Amino acid sequence: MTAVGIDAVGIWTGKLKLDLPGTFAPEKGDDPEKYTKGLGLNNSSFPDVYEDIVTMGANAAKRLMDRKGLEPEDIGRIDVATESAFDHSKPVSTYIAGCLEQVYDGDFTHANKGERKFACLAGTQAIDDAYNWIRAGRNRGRAALIVSTDTALYARGDPGEATQGAGAVAMLIDEDPSIVELSMEQGYGSKDETDFLKPNQQFPSVDGKRSVQVYLSRMREALEDYESVTDDIELDDFAYAPFHTPFPGMVRKAALLAYRHVIRDTEYEDDLADEIGRQPREADFDDREAYEEAIREYMDELKTTEQYQTWYDTVVEPTLGLSREVGNWYTSSVHIARVSALRDALTRDRSFVGDTLLVASYGSGAQAEIHAETIRDGWTAEIEGLDIDDQLASRYDLTWSEYEDVHDVHEYDMDVDREIEEFTQPEGEFVFTGWGRMNE
Ligand code: CAA
Repeated sequence: MTAVGIDAVGIWTGKLKLDLPGTFAPEKGDDPEKYTKGLGLNNSSFPDVYEDIVTMGANAAKRLMDRKGLEPEDIGRIDVATESAFDHSKPVSTYIAGCLEQVYDGDFTHANKGERKFACLAGTQAIDDAYNWIRAGRNRGRAALIVSTDTALYARGDPGEATQGAGAVAMLIDEDPSIVELSMEQGYGSKDETDFLKPNQQFPSVDGKRSVQVYLSRMREALEDYESVTDDIELDDFAYAPFHTPFPGMVRKAALLAYRHVIRDTEYEDDLADEIGRQPREADFDDREAYEEAIREYMDELKTTEQYQTWYDTVVEPTLGLSREVGNWYTSSVHIARVSALRDALTRDRSFVGDTLLVASYGSGAQAEIHAETIRDGWTAEIEGLDIDDQLASRYDLTWSEYEDVHDVHEYDMDVDREIEEFTQPEGEFVFTGWGRMNE
C-alpha cells in the first residue's frame, strides 16, 4: 500500500512577542519562574494589527507552496482547523483560498474546502480526513492542504492569559510523503465535557484546573484504546513523543502519565521495583480514592527516577522547543511539537529514517487521539527549508501597554476600531485591510 502522510510544512508566527518572565510576570506580581519553570514558557506570539487567522494561515500556506513549487492545480482539498473562526457559515478555507488565488496562476475552483472544529484536536482530524480521502482514491492525483490557524487569546485577567499565542501551520498531505507516513491505527478517548467553551464568544470560558485533569483522563483512555488495536506500546519504539502542548508544564504531566501506563508489567517496571516499588493495582484496594492516592504517590516517586528522566529528556523535552517561545497555538500546538522534535534531530545530525513518533493530540470538549508516524527519507530537506528561527528572532517585543492595546484590537467584532499603529512592517505577505478584503 502506498504511504500517505505529511509531505511538507509551512509555519507562520504572529509577528509580535510578549515576554512572560520579563513583562507579564512583573505586571501580575508573580515570580518569573512560575512562567519559565512552572508553565514552561518564555514568550507568547501575538498577531500584529494587520494579522488574523486568515492572513497567518494564508502566509503559512504560501510559504509551503512556494518552497514546493506548487500551483492551485496541484491541490484538490483545503481544510482549515481553527477554534478562532469569525464566521459561522463560510469556512475560513474559502478566505484563505481567496488570498492564495490572488498570487498564483489558476484557482481552487476544483478544490473541496471545509473547516474542522474540535478545539485543538481539529488539525489532526483534518489530517485524518485528508488521509482517508487519499486512501479512498478520491483525490485524482492531487494533494490536500491542511491549515491550522488560531489566535489563542483569553480575556485579560483570566488565568489562561499566561498561555496565549498566535500562529498557523500549513501541511501538505500526499502519497509518498517526504516527512512522515501516518499509521492506520488510532486510539481515542472522548467524552462530553464543559471545561473549555466558546458559545458565541471569542474569549473562552475556562475552568483551567479542571481542563488539566480532563486532558489527562482523555489521554489515558486514548492510550488504552490505542493499545487495544496495536497489542501494547513498547517504550523503545518511539524516537520522540509530540503531544498537544497548551504549555510545556501540561506535557510534563501527560508524559508522566503515558510513561507509567506504558511500563506497566514490563521489564522497565521490574527495573524500578527495588527503588520505588511496583505500580499500585486497583484490585488491591478497597476503594477508588485510596487507589488513586497510591497512584499519585507512585507517580511522584517515578518522576524522580533516572530511568524516567532519561526517557523524558530524550523523547519528550525536545518536542517543547518552539512551544516555549510561542505559547499555545491551539490547533497547531501538536504540529509545532512534531516540528520541534524534527529540528532537534537535525541539530543532533540524527539519522532516524524509519523511526517512529508517538503523536498525541487533544481538544477540549473533550477528545484525545493517539497514533504513530514513521519518519521518511525526505524529512531533512523539508525541516531545513523552514525559516521559523528568523521569524521568531524578528518579532517585535511588546511593552505592557502595547500588549493591552493589541489585545483589544484582536476582537472579531466588525465595530472594533483597529486604528492603532502597526508595530512591524509587512513585507510581501497577506495583510488584513478590512472585512471582506485581504490583499498581499
Ligand atoms: N516557580 C516554579 N514553579 C511555579 C512557581 C514558581 N515560583 N509558581 C507556580 N509554579 C508552578 C505551579 O506549581 C504549577 O505547576 P504544577 O501544576 O506542576 O503544580 C504551575 O507553575 C502553574 O501555576 P498555577 O497552577 O498556580 O497557575 P494558574 O492557576 O495561574 O494557571 C492554568 C494555570 C490553570 C493551567 C492556566 O494557565 C489556564 O487556565 N490555562 C488555560 C487552560 C489550559 O491551557 N488548560 C490545559 C488543558 S486544556 C487544553 O490543553 C486545551 C487548550 O489548548 C486550552
